[in-house]
Amino acid sequence: MIRIQVPATSANLGPGFDSLGIALTLRNEVWMEESDALSVTCKDGAAVPKDESNLIFRAAKRLYDRCGRHLPGLRIVQLNGIPMARGLGSSSACIVAGLLGANRLLGGPLGRRELIDLAAAIEGHPDNTTPALEGGLTVSAVETGRVYSVSLPVTGRIRFVLFIPPFELKTEKARSVLPPQYSRGDAVYNLSRAALMAASLFSGRVENLRAAVQDRIHQPYRAGLIAHRDDVFRISYELGSLGTYVSGAGPTIVAMAEADGAERLAAQAATRMEREGIAGWRTRVADADPHGAEILAE
Ligand code: HSE
Repeated sequence: MIRIQVPATSANLGPGFDSLGIALTLRNEVWMEESDALSVTCKDGAAVPKDESNLIFRAAKRLYDRCGRHLPGLRIVQLNGIPMARGLGSSSACIVAGLLGANRLLGGPLGRRELIDLAAAIEGHPDNTTPALEGGLTVSAVETGRVYSVSLPVTGRIRFVLFIPPFELKTEKARSVLPPQYSRGDAVYNLSRAALMAASLFSGRVENLRAAVQDRIHQPYRAGLIAHRDDVFRISYELGSLGTYVSGAGPTIVAMAEADGAERLAAQAATRMEREGIAGWRTRVADADPHGAEILAE
């Protein structure tokens, strides 16, 4: 079977709504082979769809359709290291795994840019799918159906402390609370900070991150969907976060920390949250993943 690994991703990075994203060192693994019928096995016991609504299958079928080929069925085995519906790119990881696997099964008809375009088209925005494929910090813009993107390395000065809540938040719901229009002031506020975020993560100017995470496009409107959000932000800053933001559509919250203090921040935050009665949240430290999705073996 083809074996594929895909990294978790953290989108938006605060102000870069639907454009900035970063790959992280948590991974999903998928094994796949063509078969007469569809069968899905999940090694970690997660409740993933076993029918044709399975996202890995849907993505694979989209690629077959695009290439004018019939997909009779697939044998899929999943091992999920990325928490589901937590704003860490689990859906994008499935889409990317399905596309990469299908492309390999067909002998590689689509090139890298076409895979990036197709992944974003299926997901609806490119800020998780591009870093899942490319690794690093990615800046993406969609222009007439094509994704124009750059993948940049992330400074080694920081690590990412993930605050993963015990509840899910579906992206669709988190998008439904956003306003249809924004003022020019808010647009400029976010444009400047999104550019500052990308340049600062690339260059290592970590003193900019506290300003660069600020945003007026999505985080303020989603605050009410994430219980204890303000407490987690406050605790992370009290313990030395360089910049804290809601990961993707949430509900996970990410604190960027000096590399040598990240484990300490995570451990102290866990103690503080327990003491303050913020139950069920897990903290975990991850790094930026420079590699992106990989086919490991066949
Ligand atoms: N940019 C998207 C959002 C990420 O914030 O809705 C969701 O995966």
